[in-house]
Amino acid sequence: MNPDPTTPGTTTLRGHSMMAEPGHATDWRHLLAHEAAVESGLYDALPGTAAEVAERAGLGLDATRAVLGLLVVAGYATATGTRFERVPQDPEAEALLVTQARALRRWSQVLGPRLRSRTAGPEAARPPAPLRLDTLAAVARPVVGPVVRACLNRLPAGSRVLDLGGGHGAFARGFAAQDVPVVLQDLPAVVDRVGPGLAADGVQVHAGDLHEDLAPGPFGVVLLSTVTNMFNARLNRDLLAGVHDILVPGGSIAIVSYLRGRTPIADAFAVQMLCFSDGGDAHDEDVYRTWLGTAGFTDIEVNDLREPPQSIVVATRSG
Ligand SMILES: C[S@@+](CC[C@H](N)C(=O)[O-])C[C@H]1O[C@@H](n2cnc3c(N)ncnc32)[C@H](O)[C@@H]1O
Repeated sequence: MNPDPTTPGTTTLRGHSMMAEPGHATDWRHLLAHEAAVESGLYDALPGTAAEVAERAGLGLDATRAVLGLLVVAGYATATGTRFERVPQDPEAEALLVTQARALRRWSQVLGPRLRSRTAGPEAARPPAPLRLDTLAAVARPVVGPVVRACLNRLPAGSRVLDLGGGHGAFARGFAAQDVPVVLQDLPAVVDRVGPGLAADGVQVHAGDLHEDLAPGPFGVVLLSTVTNMFNARLNRDLLAGVHDILVPGGSIAIVSYLRGRTPIADAFAVQMLCFSDGGDAHDEDVYRTWLGTAGFTDIEVNDLREPPQSIVVATRSG
């Protein structure tokens, strides 16, 4: 196995290649070969010779041989004589590779057109794949502890937390594990998927579009982790005003994201948002300070998380 960035045991950041540090992204050729092997059934047909694999999976022999050769170079398969075998990998790392391959395709399809028109995409562009909550959870895992601690530092005694756009629920579970009452809000389709598991872990859920319906407060902290980066300035200004109104006086908002200017990864993240959202961006610190001030927040602090190098912006509702 080569020292691929997704090798289990290395950092999640390095595995999240679209947001990898400069110079650490997975080779795009390996990503696409891996994705093709997953989707075509090539991996499922291993072990065997190229001919056996092609026969079992119903694939062309020359193409199978070519892709197998590259998978060996990438470290995802081994060859002993003419026989190929799959290298077992961590399922999370595998899912990250496929996510990266899809992002790569998306960038190649829409980035050029979006330089001219923000929501453009060629007719043939595949729509973005549905969110892989397990992949998002894997990427978020290293920051759950620091983010939960930062929120608890600002949580007024006896109040609840809202994990807004909480998705997989890793943050909400982090609060529940500290016996803090917590509600996770997400879109109905997501809440349908995660709700039963979260209920079992003591997390309440609220299904609703955060642009139209926020979980009824009051809350002591509202956490927005990698959510505001999906939206444009107008939507975020409205969102922060709405969050202000569901906080107790003295309660705080906590925003986690990549902030332009604080890490070079934010520049890749900005392009990711350009390709995957209609108005999102790696909004910078000054922008958040302006929005938060306008919404009535004070005591604004920005701190950097270590890995992934996101930042956390916290601010308090004063009155
Ligand atoms: C990038 S994920 C972040 C998940 C989690 N907070 C984290 O940091 O890993 C964005 C989440 O926001 C949710 N979301 C997007 N638009 C939303 C909306 N209009 N209302 C509520 N949730 C929304 C998505 O379903 C998804 O779970």
